[in-house]
Amino acid sequence: MEFRQHVSLAPFTTFEIGGPARWFVEATTESDIEAAVDFAKERKLRLFVLGGGSNVLVSDAGFDGLVLHIALRGIERSAAILSAAAGEDWDALVSSSVATDLAGIECLSGIPGTVGGTPVQNVGAYGQEVSRTIRTVRAFDRATRKWVDLNNVACGFSYRRSRFNQGPDRDRFIVSRVTYALAQNVPASVTYADLKHYFKNQGVADPCLQQVREAVLSIRLGKGMVVTPDHPERRSAGSFFKNPVVSAAKLPHIAEAAKLPEAEVPRYPAGAEEVKLPAAWLLEHAGFVKGYRQGAAAVSTRHTLALTNQGGATAAEIAALRDTIQTRVRELFGVALEPEPVWVA
Ligand code: EPU
Repeated sequence: MEFRQHVSLAPFTTFEIGGPARWFVEATTESDIEAAVDFAKERKLRLFVLGGGSNVLVSDAGFDGLVLHIALRGIERSAAILSAAAGEDWDALVSSSVATDLAGIECLSGIPGTVGGTPVQNVGAYGQEVSRTIRTVRAFDRATRKWVDLNNVACGFSYRRSRFNQGPDRDRFIVSRVTYALAQNVPASVTYADLKHYFKNQGVADPCLQQVREAVLSIRLGKGMVVTPDHPERRSAGSFFKNPVVSAAKLPHIAEAAKLPEAEVPRYPAGAEEVKLPAAWLLEHAGFVKGYRQGAAAVSTRHTLALTNQGGATAAEIAALRDTIQTRVRELFGVALEPEPVWVA
């Protein structure tokens, strides 16, 4: 294992943005992870754990500590239980689960990134979230210097959140392996409106897992949410903002600000007296329409929620667009938007 210095991080991110890491190391085994943690501790360096780089925005100055790139490999299957090392490509795992008739993650097709990132931000799309299939997460506990197998409840999952990315234990655990409890001989999941429309239009009544995977890939492709090599809008981190959960009492004000009847404000139920709003809708009604551009940073032409690097954008330019959007949406609707990608500085 080689500790390298001044390694540019841009090539490791889907935004293709970011300055250098002061130190950089790649872990292919669990003992590599332990050695990296010790190296950082001895030199009093901050540690950043990098997976597929699909949900990070690295600052132009880079990271003045140790970047630990997770490259552990290996997939094991026992009946409907799939266990994958953190460095495995997520979509390859979904593809193989669908091919072997295992249900539970088919709607999570086409999501860039690695297995290790899925429990961290509780990856979800088209009606599925990994929190519903994750059985255990194996991780190195930096606080006790021990390996632990955390069960589903111990992961503290909620929408785009977990014990790994929020609260007192944030950054405490380094994930090495995730075990998913999938299901055999069950119908594919079709609950999300976009998917239902897709199959209705195609005249397909009971799609199989492979058909659901293909439908999700096609919908995501249309929204620019699949990393496509050479596409001019490939440089992004997917959804840039989380869909905000607000008090239902705010709806009249939001409708008035959007100059629409209240019934036309899209919303999803989110617990007592609260609703989840599509951030993409808020952006569009605040003037940030598809293709809106500020320098080399732009709102994707295919999905309002994806900010893109149009080529040569700096992290500062993406951050400036983020700030412009957050300020305007707060002023107009009284809604605070929270970025989804992790800011690395
Ligand atoms: N909408 C617009 N304009 C757009 C796109 C969407 O106004 O350009 C509005 C519409 O009202 C639409 C609603 O937003 O009905 C929902 O849109 P969509 O189904 O595309 O989902 P999303 O809320 O924008 C979320 C996730 C995605 C995930 C999709 C599908 C978040 C922050 N994003 O997006 O996840 O793929 O649902 O389930 O929850 C990601 O997290 O990086 C990500 C891509």
